[in-house]
Amino acid sequence: MEINVNKLIKAAIGARKNAYAPYSGFYVGAAILADSGRIYTGSNAENVSYPVGICAERSAFAAALSAGERKFSAIALIGGKNGERVEKFCYPCGMCRQFMSEFCKSDFRIISAKSEKEYEIYTLGELLPKCFDLDV
Ligand code: THU
Repeated sequence: MEINVNKLIKAAIGARKNAYAPYSGFYVGAAILADSGRIYTGSNAENVSYPVGICAERSAFAAALSAGERKFSAIALIGGKNGERVEKFCYPCGMCRQFMSEFCKSDFRIISAKSEKEYEIYTLGELLPKCFDLDV
C-alpha cells in the first residue's frame, strides 16, 4: 500500500483538534491507513480517573477495527500542548506499541510529526523490537 505521508499527517492534525485532555493538557491526534485505502482517525480521551483514558493511537485503531479493517500499513501521530506550536516529536507509548503488534508486522510505519512538513518515520520493528507473541 502506497503511503501518502502528508495526507496521513493532515488527518492526524485534524483529529488532534478533537482531543479531550483536560488533565494533562497534552493533545494528541492520530491517523491510521488501512490496506483498504481508508484513513481512520483518533484522539486521546482522558478521564477523571486517570488510567481510564485512552491514547490517540488506540482510539484510531478502535475506529478502524470496528469498521472491519484488519490490515494496516502506517499510522501518523502528532501531540503537544493545546494552542501552541508542536515543538517536539512524540512517540507511541509502550501499551500502544504492543496493541499495534497484534495487527501489524515489523514493517508497519510509524510517522511522528511536528507539522505536515516536519516528520520522522520509524518501523514498528524499530520501536518494539523482540515483542511478545505466542510463537515461542
Ligand atoms: N498520549 C497519546 O494519546 N498518545 C501518545 O503517543 C502519548 C500519550 C496521551 C495520553 C494522555 O491523554 C496524554 O497524552 C498525556 O500522556
